Amino acid sequence: MAQTPVTVTITGAGGQIGYALLFRIAAGDMLGTGQPVRLRLLEIPQGLRSAEGAALELQDGAFPLLGDVEVTDDTAVGFDGCDIALLVGSRPRGPGMERADLLTANAGIFGPQGAAIAAHAAAGVRVVVVGNPANTNALIARAAAPDLPDDRFTALTRLDHNRAVGQLAAALDVMPGSIRDVAIWGNHSATQFPDIAHATVDGARALDALSARFGGPYAATSWLDDEFVPRVAGRGAEIIEVRGSSSVASAANAAIDHVRDWMLGRPADAGWTSAAVVSHGEYGVPEGLVSSFPVTSDGDGYRIVEGLALDARARARIDASVAELIGERDAVARAGLL
Ligand code: NAD
Ligand code: LMR
Repeated sequence: MAQTPVTVTITGAGGQIGYALLFRIAAGDMLGTGQPVRLRLLEIPQGLRSAEGAALELQDGAFPLLGDVEVTDDTAVGFDGCDIALLVGSRPRGPGMERADLLTANAGIFGPQGAAIAAHAAAGVRVVVVGNPANTNALIARAAAPDLPDDRFTALTRLDHNRAVGQLAAALDVMPGSIRDVAIWGNHSATQFPDIAHATVDGARALDALSARFGGPYAATSWLDDEFVPRVAGRGAEIIEVRGSSSVASAANAAIDHVRDWMLGRPADAGWTSAAVVSHGEYGVPEGLVSSFPVTSDGDGYRIVEGLALDARARARIDASVAELIGERDAVARAGLL
């Protein structure tokens, strides 16, 4: 029997990440090659022509799984019956900016969109915020949809997770697929904590592999503190400096990974991944903040991996990132956005 199409709404569909997302979603990379999809491309008036052009190209792809594609600047139409909302539409930062500098420009987008999702989307809607500053934008969207459960709102830190796996794989000269149980904690910002304390490489402790690679545990910790953490946390800025504009294909790839694992579950042997989800006090993160944690998924939702031991170094880094999230929350509350 043919499966019912899933309705996917992409905001900012006429932008860079939108363009990188649409064709992979249509090809079945996000929801599987047996799952038909309908696409809603939501833009502001200035972005409509670009989204319309992408819609023409989608038609020209003759994707077997692609049902109707609608382009609109009306949130009621864009979120009508939406099962999955990818909230990408917002301004990217330029060189020399921090993501939090975008709060003023972007935060105002996410309250109205959260309210429109609550009013028009399907009852089981799941939302991932990509637009920066992603965690706090997700907090705003979540607050505007009080009747929806917390677990429907997430923000993207899978890109940071994938970057951490990529850096570790390069340092140890192994395939990324051999690495398990890396974690990103906190904010999608320069304060995030990429953590490999529980990670394994081909089943062995990553810390032991790093000690062997760098000549002892002291040198391994120095590499983590001086190179790995700043490189992963600063990778967005590095991409902006080298490319001249912010990450696109890797961001779209991470968003697809995030939704796929969330909707379909992760393979049993894949270990955990990272996502920013609404805190209920886990690891001392204040309730209601949208913070990144290590998570598992069986397809029924992301679940925080609980009970991990954190040493003083990890605790201090997580606390610093959470303090930044508190500061962002308080700033948007003062601006009347919560
Ligand atoms: P872009 O400028 O190429 O595209 C943004 C699009 O959003 C534009 O077409 C614009 O018209 C549209 N838009 C703006 N306001 C909108 C609204 N209210 N409703 C619908 N559409 C709207 O930018 P991009 O490179 O696609 O990046 C988009 C966002 O994603 C930026 O905020 C960027 O910082 C962020 N980003 C996040 C991550 C992450 O890992 N979380 C990674 C990369 C980029
Ligand atoms: C990224 O991490 O690449 C994005 O959040 C873009 C940025 O501003 O860093």
